[in-house]
Amino acid sequence: MIGNDIVDLALAQQESNWKRKGFLDKIFSKNEQLLISNAENPAIMVWNLWSRKEAAYKIYNRKTQIRGYFPLQFECFDLRSIDGIIFGKVAIKSFVYFTKTEINFEFIHTIAVENTRGFQNIKTLENRKNIKKNNGIPNYFDEYNSVSKLVSISHHGRFERIISV
Ligand SMILES: CC(C)(COP(=O)(O)OP(=O)(O)OC[C@H]1O[C@@H](n2cnc3c(N)ncnc32)[C@H](O)[C@@H]1OP(=O)(O)O)[C@@H](O)C(=O)NCCC(=O)NCCS
Repeated sequence: MIGNDIVDLALAQQESNWKRKGFLDKIFSKNEQLLISNAENPAIMVWNLWSRKEAAYKIYNRKTQIRGYFPLQFECFDLRSIDGIIFGKVAIKSFVYFTKTEINFEFIHTIAVENTRGFQNIKTLENRKNIKKNNGIPNYFDEYNSVSKLVSISHHGRFERIISV
């Protein structure tokens, strides 16, 4: 299974004041808050962790059908940068998902998969052709191979990313 999430950094800065009282405590664990306070750029770390949790939620929800807003149940850990891409893990209950985050001046984009080999199979789709939603969750029909494939969509501000396998 796959999930993704994109954050338009200009819009995030306009829309959300992450420094407001109580915001961090509602979303991030103590360890995550340490990552934020120790980061060279704390705002970027806030949206980096946020985007990992949202991408992981999209897998978790698809798998369990459990819906809701429970950011503290997602714990980001093991963040490491390889050639400018930040890899990491997100745990919820007994599940652990693998995340891969691209960060630049304009956006943060995370892809979450169930095992690390999954990253190699990710493709980006250019549009929503052949994508249908079932109970709000999108799927892609691959006409060439006549099979239904997983897809994940994320949009925020100026950016949209559609990924499939
Ligand atoms: C559903 C949710 C994940 C959508 O995320 P978002 O950042 O608001 O919006 P995005 O653009 O990234 O994703 C929206 C797309 O995801 C897809 N989507 C919607 N619900 C989905 C789900 N449950 N699972 C997978 N994909 C979903 C849809 O394709 C939708 O786009 P579309 O309606 O234009 O087709 C989010 O609103 C939510 O409920 N999050 C709560 C989970 C949580 O606790 N998160 C922790 C945050 S730190």
